[in-house]
Amino acid sequence: MSQRSCLSVILAAGEGTRMKSAMPKVLHAIAGLPMVAHVVKAAEAAGATGLALVIGHGADEMRRAAHKFAPKAETFVQEKRLGTAHAVLAAREAISKGYDDILVMFGDTPLIDAQALAAARQKLAEGVAVVVIGFRPPSPIGYGRLIEKGGKLVAIREEKDCSEDEKKIGFCNAGMMAVAGEHALRLLDKVGNKNAKGEFYLTDIVEIAGAEGLDVVAMEAGFESALGINNRAELAEAEAIWQTRRRREAMLAGVTLIAPETVYFSHDTEIGADTIVEPNVWFGPGVKISTGATIHAFSHLTGATIAENCEIGPFARLRPGADLRKKAKVGNFCEVKQATVEEGAKVNHLTYVGDARVGAGANIGAGTITCNYDGYSKFFTDIGEGAFVGSNSSLVAPVTIGKGGYIASGSVITESVPDDALAFGRARQRTIPGKGKELRERLASAAAARKKAAE
Ligand code: UD1
Ligand code: CA
Repeated sequence: MSQRSCLSVILAAGEGTRMKSAMPKVLHAIAGLPMVAHVVKAAEAAGATGLALVIGHGADEMRRAAHKFAPKAETFVQEKRLGTAHAVLAAREAISKGYDDILVMFGDTPLIDAQALAAARQKLAEGVAVVVIGFRPPSPIGYGRLIEKGGKLVAIREEKDCSEDEKKIGFCNAGMMAVAGEHALRLLDKVGNKNAKGEFYLTDIVEIAGAEGLDVVAMEAGFESALGINNRAELAEAEAIWQTRRRREAMLAGVTLIAPETVYFSHDTEIGADTIVEPNVWFGPGVKISTGATIHAFSHLTGATIAENCEIGPFARLRPGADLRKKAKVGNFCEVKQATVEEGAKVNHLTYVGDARVGAGANIGAGTITCNYDGYSKFFTDIGEGAFVGSNSSLVAPVTIGKGGYIASGSVITESVPDDALAFGRARQRTIPGKGKELRERLASAAAARKKAAE
């Protein structure tokens, strides 16, 4: 099968009014990735070599987005929404390039299963002309019913065109179809619009192919793969299903999730074996975790790279460009952005490290802040290997602290500190013997005098 070329035509011209959104429906995200991009991924996983995206509503925004999630996709605008067959034909130019297999998919069905698509393509390779992916929803209302006879699919009847008997059929059209490329355009061009909705139905190609004596079959897929998203409640449902699948996959790959239902992955999270994730952890896009890390509760990670055996949180925030090397520690209420924390370095409490390098084995005291931004530009802080930064210090970038440098607590460091130097960046303490007692007595007698005057 792998030698067969395959074009995936993804229909996404719909308006999606029920999302009540200024953004096209299919750009709403699941696990941080637009739902239509999930469809693209499934198509690619099923071996699609070409991608045609049929767009309409919000075409410019769709093109811009597609450029990111499917740079190789060709986009085709369907000017008027005259039905699913009409929509597929908007991509006529791509279809006529002569692909072996054509996969038709809907942009609003993000949980679609690549294995079902691959199995449908296998049927095409065996000589079947049209393969329809079917499913059994809890209620078939609103779906096209699959009418079978002797193991062959003879027709798909839309709800509005069904007889009472046909309405009782529970096996429904999920919306995905695989069509042999050599027949696709001919079959589509024969579709008319004499039906209850006056639309050109893609589903009519089943009867048309049958009439030509071609083989047409239905294959059953799981309910989730056909879950179409029309509103934000369904979007959340799809997100929940996606997360459940991903958590299970992570656990089976050797990751401990203590309370899996509270951990949220992104579509691209990479997480190695023997990582322990405590409850309530959020992974935004771009996180890569090697093995053996512990992510304590309530941590929020985006765009971070984490090497072996690191310890993060609780309540840590790792932002894009956070690069933790082996055994680094980023503890509670710390934020790290665009910064390398080298092997064994510790950033343990209430600290902000941004645009910086923390050298191997360095220890950053509680409340340390890299002052990386002057309101206009960002500057770099370089902290050498084995340095010690005392608590509550401000490191005003650009600034360098040499290897083994030692910063006194509460310092404001504006000048670079050489290797092994000790730097104080604060006023010297003054201690006056007996002065505390004297002050207290003065304050007490003034208060007593005020009280007497008020009587
Ligand atoms: C369609 C199927 C139905 C199936 C159901 C599964 C047809 C005629 N019916 O019905 O058998 O059970 O999906 O969910 O195919 N679109 C366009 N341009 C158009 C029309 C539709 O791009 O002119 C896109 C929509 O944006 C959507 C998809 O095609 O992504 C499906 O269209 P929709 O109107 O939702 O079809 P259904 O009536 O749900
Ligand atoms: Ca629909």
